[in-house]
Amino acid sequence: MNDSAARNSNEAITADLLRQLAYNEKMAELGKISAGVVHELNAPLSVIISAAQMIMREAGVPEVVQEMISRISSEAQRLSQLTKGLLNFSSHDDTIGEVDLNLTVDFILNFLNFEAARRGVIVLKYFDHTLPVIRLDANMLKQILLNIIMNALQAMEDTGGKLLVETIPVGCDEVCFIITDNGPGIPTESIERIFDRYFTTKKPGEGTGLGLFVTKRLVESMGGEIKVRSRNGGGTTFSVTLPVRQ
Ligand SMILES: Nc1ncnc2c1ncn2[C@@H]1O[C@H](COP(=O)(O)OP(=O)(O)OP(=O)(O)O)[C@@H](O)[C@H]1O
Ligand SMILES: [Mg+2]
Repeated sequence: MNDSAARNSNEAITADLLRQLAYNEKMAELGKISAGVVHELNAPLSVIISAAQMIMREAGVPEVVQEMISRISSEAQRLSQLTKGLLNFSSHDDTIGEVDLNLTVDFILNFLNFEAARRGVIVLKYFDHTLPVIRLDANMLKQILLNIIMNALQAMEDTGGKLLVETIPVGCDEVCFIITDNGPGIPTESIERIFDRYFTTKKPGEGTGLGLFVTKRLVESMGGEIKVRSRNGGGTTFSVTLPVRQ
């Protein structure tokens, strides 16, 4: 590649990263708006939760009322958890720090709970609890997980699929997470191209083909590696290995 071709290609890559960043900005903006709503929601939610607890402590509450109140209480607690998750995702501290991979994976799975449930997808988690903490930018890690898991959920559209998410240590200085779905798989003629910019098999407006392109760049910028295995009709596995220290 000559100098000007290399410059053009670098400029195009920067434009793509900026586009995905703009999308993230939009998400963050949405996060900020929802942060306001969430803040307003938290006060009435805690009133509901504590009122429900007070009723439960009263003597002689009929069993059927107790059952209803405990449902009100657990749903209010679920909402309260959800609002905490939204606040957390919108937080904008993009500095490098110590990150617990298991907690981050769990956070993203909770964030995508609704997306999985509405497709009837069962989520299985196998977390290794001896994993060392890793030093990286948590928002980048969230973006990587979001892109891979969202693709897996989209691939299992309405088929009642299973998503398996595993974390494992690799030696003492690397960690790995593996995401396996039992969707239709990626045809051999496409697998070489899935990390290419703009490669998508989704309908216009449903996919930009930037998700995996950006994901690969983010993983490599952290000194890590992303691999894919898939058989036509046999599901897909993405594995990402990251160094504990960059
Ligand atoms: N788990 C998977 N199962 C089957 N195909 C997949 C899977 N993950 C990715 N693909 C294929 O790789 C293509 C590229 O994925 P990529 O995330 O880069 O773009 P996209 O999902 O089409 O669009 P978006 O920019 O919204 O992410 C997808 O269109 C799909 O054909
Ligand atoms: Mg995608």
